[in-house]
This record gives sequence, structure tokens and C-alpha cells, in this order.
Amino acid sequence: MAGTALDARAILSQLRAGTQLGPEALNWFAQALGRGEISDAQAGAFAMGICRAPLDSAGRVALTCAMRDSGKTLQWDVPGPVLDKHSTGGVGDCVSLALAPALAACGAYVPMISGRGLGHTGGTLDKLEAIPGYRSEVSLERMQQITAQVGCAIVSASDDLAPADKLLYGVRDVTGTVDSIDLITASILSKKLAEAPEALVLDVKVGSGAIMPDRASAEALARALVQTANGAGCPTTALLTDMSQPLVTAAGNALEVIEVMETLTMTGVTHALWELTVQLGGALLFDSGMTVTREQGGEEISKALSSGRAAEKFGEMVAAMGGPTDFIERWRDRLPGASVQRLVFPEQKGFISQVDTRALGEIVVHLGGGRLRGSDRINPGVGLSQLAGIGEEVGQDRPIAMIHAASQAEADRAEDALVAAYSVGPLPLDPPDLILAQIAGDA
Ligand code: URA
Repeated sequence: MAGTALDARAILSQLRAGTQLGPEALNWFAQALGRGEISDAQAGAFAMGICRAPLDSAGRVALTCAMRDSGKTLQWDVPGPVLDKHSTGGVGDCVSLALAPALAACGAYVPMISGRGLGHTGGTLDKLEAIPGYRSEVSLERMQQITAQVGCAIVSASDDLAPADKLLYGVRDVTGTVDSIDLITASILSKKLAEAPEALVLDVKVGSGAIMPDRASAEALARALVQTANGAGCPTTALLTDMSQPLVTAAGNALEVIEVMETLTMTGVTHALWELTVQLGGALLFDSGMTVTREQGGEEISKALSSGRAAEKFGEMVAAMGGPTDFIERWRDRLPGASVQRLVFPEQKGFISQVDTRALGEIVVHLGGGRLRGSDRINPGVGLSQLAGIGEEVGQDRPIAMIHAASQAEADRAEDALVAAYSVGPLPLDPPDLILAQIAGDA
């Protein structure tokens, strides 16, 4: 469309004709979205057009950068690299809570803008807000101050970053256009890149608890994310990781914080949480040039965890965000619990062969640990703990899980759903691999 003045109608007509939009048109549309000059009808037509005429990789980079530039982009004056991580979400995925302070303990700066629970998946902010006093809604200025002082700040999104995404996401939600790799990529990355990170790591989940349950679509998304972020100048690696079962043995807000604290304070390390934190953190330290290899990066993260330095950073962040100043010493007393706790045993002895992880996430939501409507208040103490993993033996002396509920009636409902979510077979089997693939910048 060189030489012609751009306008929404002309761009949408091009899309309708199935023509690939050039960077100029994509940039114009995203900027106009951010300025509030595009109607919902036009945004819906745009989203549908992209679904029908997918972008090439240059187009994805152009759309992502234009959406990033539709609002503020942060500037930093800190003595180490600014790093961040994004996960596509799952059940029992509390890695951000361990990774951000571990990176801070290694000398990086982590402004981690995170989300709340979505559907059956838990949200990092809801987990942190189980800590009394923790308020994730702070201004961008305060977030930058805390990041500079402590090394990490896990906070909620700001309207000032990537406003084009906020508008487009709302429209996609009601026009059946959420499920597009181009639009998901631009949406996730525009917000992350607006923080101006020097490297990014992406945890793309695969399995029954993931948003993309099958490996092929998760891998296609991971490749698009990595190519686009690198194309936008941000060194990025993605790990494809297992979500055929919850990552840790708990699902629920305070219960997952307990598991993180047990790992950070070395009072009860969860192997999968440790391993994924090390692998994601190792990739970031390498991609930002802090270490010469990924393995060295992983070793630095391991040391930050085992020395207790990551735990100290977590405590400093909690205090700076309004939580208790003695959280690291008194976390067991500070976290809320549930009035009913019930162990659930399998109908027959055997080995866990399969888990409907999405169903486990739904159980937590229905116990009150997530939202059925946007306005719902979360009960931070409810959820599931002691979850048995694939390959584990269960029977009358080893339960499937413990339910934490607000009432006996809610525990009854959760118990039925829990038993249905687990398949138990007669033969032992190996647990699934945690890390399925690594997709680096040159992929
Ligand atoms: N998360 C986002 O931020 N955007 C999407 O489109 C999907 C997941």
C-alpha cells in the first residue's frame, strides 16, 4: 500500500482479499488500536482476517513490535541484565515464584508482569496474594523501584504497557479468534517486550493441563514465539515442558506457596520445581551473556537456591510488596489454611497411569481457589496437596491427594471429581519426562 494513506477500512479490505499485510499496515493498525481509534467491529474484523490469512514471520515481528510500541516501553538504569519469563500456564505451575528471586540472587533484574488464574490454570498473582498484605497492583514507577532495590518484582499488568493488546484481547475473547498462533504470539510478546528485557525465556506447556494439550500445536507456538522475540531483538529460548500432570504436588494458592517455600528454604525440595527453575534460569543467564554455557547458568541458579540467597530475595520482595517483613522465618504461620482437610484414597491399589490435569485445575476453581466469574473472590487456603504423580503407587496406605475445602459438602464434590480424574492401573510405569524439547534462537 505504498504511497496510499492508510486507514482501517483499506487495511481490512486487504485482509478480506487474503493479502498479506505489510509491516507499514500492521504498524498503523496496532498504533491506531493503542490510541483508541479502532472500533470493536474493526478490531474483530482484523483478528478474524489474521486467523484467515496468517502472517509470515516478518509480519509477526512487525505486529508484535507495533503492539509493543502502542504504549510505554520501560527504560532501565540497573547494574545487571533485565530478564523475564513467560509460561503458557498450567496446574501447580509456581515456577515464577522461585525463578524471579533466584535470578535476582544471581545479579539479574526481573520485572515480572504476571497474570491471574485463567480458566483451569492458576495465576501467579493469586498465589502471591495468598500472602497476607501482598498487593500486586503497583504503579510502573514503584515496580521499577522495587526491581532496582530487590532485584525482582512480581506485579500485575499496567494499562500503560501494550494497550493495543488489551483492546484486541478483549475483542478476540468474544469473536472466536483467541486461538491463532499469530495473535497469541503478538499478545504475549508485546507485553513482555514493553518491559525492555535483555533476554526472555518461555515455558510452553504440553499435556492434559495445558492450554495447547497436543505437542504439535505447542511446538508450533513455541517456534513462533522464539522466532518473533529474536526477530524483535530479544534473545529468547523456549522449553517445551510436561503438563500431563501438575508440576508440583499441590494445586491451590497458599498450598503452592508452601511448596515453593519448602523448596526455597530446603526444608522439602520438590524435584520438578527445582529442575525447571534451574533449566529456565540457566537459559536466561546464558542468553543474557551472564554465563558462557546454559549448564553454567543452571549451576548458578542451583547455588542461588541451595545457599538460601533466593529465599532471602523472595522475602525482600514480599516485604517490598506489602507482605510481612518476617515471611521467610514465619511463612508457615502467615499463610491461610482451609477448615476441612480430607485424604482421598483410590478405589483399588495400583499405579497412577494417567491424570486429567485440567480436571484437577477445575476442582481447585470449584473449591473457591479460582474464579467462575471475573468478580469472584478467591479463597486462598483451598486446593489439593500431596497429589500422587504418574507412576506412583497408591492404595489404602498412600492417598491420591488431600483436599483442602471450606466445607464438608465442597470436599464431597471435590472427592468425586478427584477420583474420576485419576486412572490407576496394575503395572508400574515411568513418570513422563519433564523437559520435552528446547527451542533456541537459531531454531
Ligand atoms: N496469553 C496472552 O497474554 N495472550 C494470549 O493471546 C494468550 C495467552
